[in-house]
Amino acid sequence: MRKILVTGALGQIGTELVLYLREIYGNLNIIASDIAPKGPEKVLKAGPFEIVNVLDAKRINEVVEKYKPDVIIHLAAILSAVGENNPALAWNVNMYGLYNVLEVAKSNGCAVFTPSSIAAFGPSTPKDKTPQDTIQRPTTMYGVTKVAGELLCDYYFYKYGVDTRGVRFPGLISYEALPGGGTTDYAVHIYYEAVKNKKYTCYIKEGTYMDMMYMPDALNAVVTLLEANPDKLIHRNAFNITAMSFAPEDIYAEIKKIIPEFTMDYNIDPIKQKIAESWPNSLDDTAAREEWGWKPKYDLPLMTKDMIEKLSIKLK
Ligand code: NAD
Ligand code: SER
Repeated sequence: MRKILVTGALGQIGTELVLYLREIYGNLNIIASDIAPKGPEKVLKAGPFEIVNVLDAKRINEVVEKYKPDVIIHLAAILSAVGENNPALAWNVNMYGLYNVLEVAKSNGCAVFTPSSIAAFGPSTPKDKTPQDTIQRPTTMYGVTKVAGELLCDYYFYKYGVDTRGVRFPGLISYEALPGGGTTDYAVHIYYEAVKNKKYTCYIKEGTYMDMMYMPDALNAVVTLLEANPDKLIHRNAFNITAMSFAPEDIYAEIKKIIPEFTMDYNIDPIKQKIAESWPNSLDDTAAREEWGWKPKYDLPLMTKDMIEKLSIKLK
């Protein structure tokens, strides 16, 4: 049975991933951690929770020695929009946090799973059907840390034999925890506003396409890659994965099919728009499909139906 330490476990992904992992591997085998104990009871109380600042390598080591996990899923990070407002913070948390996790993993024989992002690409990357192996010259600090993180993880695999694996997540859409300050967050907020107020002001321009994914597919991706046969992996850090690509007007049209009175206007945020334009329109995820059987379940209509159903209950 696996034992897994999750850093940044109270964020958008961690809040759901910890519960998903506990269902598979048992409550006591999943150690949630974050910089502060601010999060839902079900994550904090149903299994072990530890306060861990990933900038404190000694503390990570202490927790690893206490629980002896065989995997660290490293989620603690600063996302794109927050990172552009505070590049020094993004560099510190994303780079030194990852370095500390890799060092502790190396010393304690743990595998490491950490997500990269569509942000690892930049304006000179081919925009459509972006290949697995291609130009990676991002223009955001977040993206710089994601490319450097991918390289660092591969380095620890080749140099020290640490079993490092990762995916390049697209924008993730979910209804449990709110997103933590990314560029793709509009695709979550639009559902909340559609259900609550029947109107939304979008900060991303019409015609701006980005890859997206519903959280259940993202959780499944983490476990499927974690459990994949290492002999089949040609790539490691990190695999392109996607489930759908849409622009604001597409998600608006889909929501309107279920909530006909929904309206949307635009008030473009120039920083987030510039970030969005620097990212691919759509990824080619053939390598993930071939090497570990990646296959998403949710497309835009299926996700929209489920998000609206779930949020209608949550926001009642
Ligand atoms: P989030 O912002 O929702 O959560 C990050 C968590 O990290 C927060 O709970 C925060 O408290 C914690 N944290 C911040 N600084 C810390 C520190 N010094 N020590 C310990 N914890 C700290 O992020 P998320 O959306 O859950 O993303 C998790 C990972 O997935 C990140 O690496 C992110 O880049 C990647 N990712 C996310 C998305 C997405 O759409 N959510 C897309 C691509 C990649
Ligand atoms: N959703 C993330 C962001 O917008 C992509 O990594 O920052």
